[in-house]
Amino acid sequence: MLNYRNVDEFIARSKVKKDLAYAPSYHFTPPTGWMNDPNGLCQFKGTYHLFYQYNPFKTKFGIICWGHATSDDLIHWKDEKVAIKPQFPKEIIGVWSGSALVCNGEMHLFYTSNSLIQQQSGATYDEEKGVAIKWKENPIIKRKHLLVPGEKKDFRDPKIMPVEDGFWMVVGGKQGGTGVMYYYKSSNLKDWVYCGYVPYPEFAGALECPDIFELDGKIVCCASRPGNVKYYVYEDIPIHGGKLLYTGKLDYGDYFYAPQTFRAEDGRRILISWANKWNVPCGTASHGWAGTMTVPRELRLTKNNELVIKPVKEVDDFLANHSTNKSKKTTICLDFSESVCYQLTLLKDKITEKGIVLIVSRNGDTVEIYKKTEHELKVLASFSTMQREIYCDIYVDSYIAELYFDKHRIAITEVNYYENEIEPLDIQRQICNGEQL
Ligand code: FRU
Repeated sequence: MLNYRNVDEFIARSKVKKDLAYAPSYHFTPPTGWMNDPNGLCQFKGTYHLFYQYNPFKTKFGIICWGHATSDDLIHWKDEKVAIKPQFPKEIIGVWSGSALVCNGEMHLFYTSNSLIQQQSGATYDEEKGVAIKWKENPIIKRKHLLVPGEKKDFRDPKIMPVEDGFWMVVGGKQGGTGVMYYYKSSNLKDWVYCGYVPYPEFAGALECPDIFELDGKIVCCASRPGNVKYYVYEDIPIHGGKLLYTGKLDYGDYFYAPQTFRAEDGRRILISWANKWNVPCGTASHGWAGTMTVPRELRLTKNNELVIKPVKEVDDFLANHSTNKSKKTTICLDFSESVCYQLTLLKDKITEKGIVLIVSRNGDTVEIYKKTEHELKVLASFSTMQREIYCDIYVDSYIAELYFDKHRIAITEVNYYENEIEPLDIQRQICNGEQL
């Protein structure tokens, strides 16, 4: 805990060891140490703010604080001071995930104070000091305010949605072994009334990092559970009985967790996600940090309530002038009038020959995308289309690749921590026949 006293100096000293040659050029990574979930995303007085779950001292999870970076263009990020430090004893495990609300010229941050007991707290960002000042009323939602019987162990990751008559807060948790989103309502951000919960029985275990926002006239909720990061489109707020219209995956890859969205000042709904997964060693640790964010992605809804997920235009503008062999965007066209199946190899280590191998095959009007590993061939995603030519946008950046299929309804985030020289975009248009699968 004491270490946190001089944490900013520690980060400045350690930052010089970061191996910039290995670092992505348009994906955010921390200056040093461990990073997980994006937190407190917002645009405040024109500047974008990205806070994140941060253990600056090691390239491993630990006692977590909120790291902070700012940007004018969503591409170049400036490291700022640690914004929220854990306080002994009520945050002995750390200050866990949460969100931001920009309101009346101020930026408020909401997070989980974790001391084994998880409770919700608030802080207001002080522009001059460059840190968030915790509210004296904390915790604003105490454990005893979780007025439901049963499991109370998991209770975290507050996200706020402003509405006409006040504010909603959703908090992730678990009841009877499966995921739920708790709902609270407030008119002043400090006093919260418990309004019930919505169950998500498909999540085996606590639901993490809930999100709720309005998009194109509908209400969208998002939720994370390892291996399952989903969105739900409703006619109205689900706790008010809003009808579920559509549900889908936010990303079909193996490296996507705990996404969060925010509304930019120009009205865009933008999502950023942690592009890692729990319980798998992070291959950048030997280069001085662990943890990568996806590019910011703009969300829209189709008439059929499916999400369209696209890297923000700033990414394409940047790559139009700053592409390198290692960091670029390529659009490919897979022509299925010629063949049944294609194999794409991405981020291939030239010596070990290990890369991400995806197989795209077509069966009638269904296109299936498989991931091939030494041991298995697993279906990542599938979609229906009448079209013979399938387009795919591929963004590579050092060890990370983001692919977008089906007119951006399918996003796939994958990582290959290569060790030697890399062939980032060695797309082998191998035309295979059905038997090879
Ligand atoms: C999600 C998560 C959150 C929690 C945070 C801790 O990845 O487990 O539920 O608040 O990470 O860092």
